[in-house]
Amino acid sequence: MKHKLAVLGNPIAHSRSPEIHKKFAEQHRIEVSCERILVPSKRFENHALEFFKSGGQGFNITAPCKQDAFRLSATCSKAAELAQAVNTISRRDGVIHGDNTDGAGLRQDILVNLGWEIENKNVLLLGAGGAASGVVGDLLSSNPNSLHIFNRTFTKAKAIEKVHSDPRLTAITYLDRSYDLIINATSAAFNDEKLDLPPSILCDESCCYDLTYGTEANETPFLIWTKGLGVTSVADGLGMLVEQAAQAFEIWFSKTVSTAPVIEAIRGNGENS
Ligand code: ATR
Repeated sequence: MKHKLAVLGNPIAHSRSPEIHKKFAEQHRIEVSCERILVPSKRFENHALEFFKSGGQGFNITAPCKQDAFRLSATCSKAAELAQAVNTISRRDGVIHGDNTDGAGLRQDILVNLGWEIENKNVLLLGAGGAASGVVGDLLSSNPNSLHIFNRTFTKAKAIEKVHSDPRLTAITYLDRSYDLIINATSAAFNDEKLDLPPSILCDESCCYDLTYGTEANETPFLIWTKGLGVTSVADGLGMLVEQAAQAFEIWFSKTVSTAPVIEAIRGNGENS
């Protein structure tokens, strides 16, 4: 029996999720198909329901449809509730259930794959859109000393602060200190825009993580900037992508997968996407 998976978003041609899920399925000798479904504006619900009608098992959601997926979910996990966004949909007893595995994927990549620390560290999160809100809950559950959110539009950072109401979490209006861990969750690179950041946010020991990803030959602008200023601990979001997919796979099939060989294979496959 072939299980039908999909990833929905717009744009979607670049998505590596089908490649990743097929590799996980091979580990368990499960047969899967994983379609990329392009969702025109305001058509998310139609495409999602159509997918289930055609026998789909579950699907991932990427930008800009994660809030639509949250609204479609009849029930959802605590992580999805906090993020007000869903990246994984499954059916539980016929009911559409939403999860958000982005934060858990990021945490797994940072703590386990990279061996960096969050506990007792001062963390800076750049951006306050969908990607940023999806990871705040899991960053807080890793017990940072502080988590500052800095965004071009302050009100959005303040709104995230309000949702979590955690004394360690602060929306800040200016950058005037250095951080142990800096996470870029802005979409500036997608629009070929430059982030205007003061070098003073970095120190020699800073670890810098970009939720977006490039290739070895084509690193993200944020990581190029940090490396140019002497930072050596840097990582892009490819590991997080594989880890969040692993958690989604577990939700659909109740089977854990081994992520390290998949990260290696995906990175080696190298198109810039
Ligand atoms: P995503 O789902 O990828 O997070 P999003 O919800 O549109 O996309 O959020 C994009 C984030 O990147 C926002 O925080 C945005 O800042 P604003 O809230 O001020 O729009 C941030 N961003 C995008 N381009 C940026 C730029 N050139 N400089 C700084 N921040 C930028």
